Amino acid sequence: MNKQFSILKTGDEVKARIQEMAGEINRDYAGITEEQPLLVLCTLRGAVFFASDLVRAVSIPCELDFIKIKSYQGTRPAGSPIFELGEQINVSGRNVLIVEDIVDTGQTMDTVMHNFADKGAKSIRIAAMLDKPSRRLPHLVGKVEADYVGFSIPDEFVIGWGLDYNEQFRLLPDIMIYHPEHEES
Ligand code: IMP
Repeated sequence: MNKQFSILKTGDEVKARIQEMAGEINRDYAGITEEQPLLVLCTLRGAVFFASDLVRAVSIPCELDFIKIKSYQGTRPAGSPIFELGEQINVSGRNVLIVEDIVDTGQTMDTVMHNFADKGAKSIRIAAMLDKPSRRLPHLVGKVEADYVGFSIPDEFVIGWGLDYNEQFRLLPDIMIYHPEHEES
């Protein structure tokens, strides 16, 4: 038996939840017009499948762009998050929805929100496929919270549906808990 992986959410469960989240987003952004669409910023690479399903499930006008923030190595945070892509996107006066794979300590979303708030975004919200609230840094509790959460999960390292472990396992069709310390037997 392979003890390294266990299913947390099946692909079908994720897809169903994305439809519900799209409904919430449609309601909240009902006033959005074609002249000024919602600016959806997908965080690469982890949120790419979540974002592509989400933007196709919503019915409000959206524009899609990409940002990339480096923050993780293996199963441990690698220090302060930094922009690798997208810092220059013009968010001034725009309604911005950041689409993130998972909110963990909250540092990445804190960095991104500060950056875009400083650049004059009209509103900034976060849609996260997963949330690990028990991992939030104390000073970010209540400050960095996703407005739309697919699933709130316990403190486990997860892979699949875009989430990786050192660039492995992103393409798995389910969200799985990864136990790197358990060898195959
Ligand atoms: P934060 O800055 O600690 O909130 O971390 C956010 C980023 O860390 C996410 O965008 C992921 O790339 C990565 N991350 C956090 N937890 C996991 C996990 O369980 N599996 C894979 N990546 C994770």
